Amino acid sequence: MLDPADHKQLQKRLLAWFDEHQRVLPWRKNKTPYRIWVSEIMLQQTQVATVIPYFERFIVELPTVQALADADEQKVLRLWQGLGYYRRARNLRAAAKMIVKDFDSEVPADVGTLLQLPGVGRYTAGAIASIAHGTSAPIVDGNVARVFARVFHLEQAIDSPPVQKQLWSLAEALVPSRSPGDFNQALMELGALVCTPKSPSCPACPLRKQCEANA
Ligand code: ADE
Repeated sequence: MLDPADHKQLQKRLLAWFDEHQRVLPWRKNKTPYRIWVSEIMLQQTQVATVIPYFERFIVELPTVQALADADEQKVLRLWQGLGYYRRARNLRAAAKMIVKDFDSEVPADVGTLLQLPGVGRYTAGAIASIAHGTSAPIVDGNVARVFARVFHLEQAIDSPPVQKQLWSLAEALVPSRSPGDFNQALMELGALVCTPKSPSCPACPLRKQCEANA
């Protein structure tokens, strides 16, 4: 599909674009594993702009894994009030208890261990491993799927199992060993800001020269 020189070029272009154009977001400052985990759970079903004030409040009230593990369920649900999908809040608290008990209060760094936590699936495990710990793990979310479908001209329905499998293989092949977290965030950010579902801004895209949809 792409030879290694093309991989390198795509990584370089994407990382340079992200350096210059990424949004300033609270979880992009002081990137502790706890903050990244909480933000990724909030971002699972909720838009970035909505998440920001909830994230800020949550972190002030419950600044550590230990604080979250010790908090009453009612308190956690109150901090979640308005975000919806409350199972996320219950799972977050249950996972905090598990991290305190089984992992010495440290958010795990590898995908296999992260997947044992309630509320953490393949996407969230990859996001925490790469963004918080610098582990070279792939991620595919809706934005990443759209970017790949366009760049690599995947024509079948994006949610079909064979295409999902292909997308995860592509993500795995492309994620660099250096800066995997920035690379993954850059893909999501490109999908959110440039490679949008309707009227994408192709002239502003760092990947336009190697994008099959643009060609
Ligand atoms: N959506 C979910 N997590 C994100 C992140 N870290 N950056 C941009 N968009 C996201």
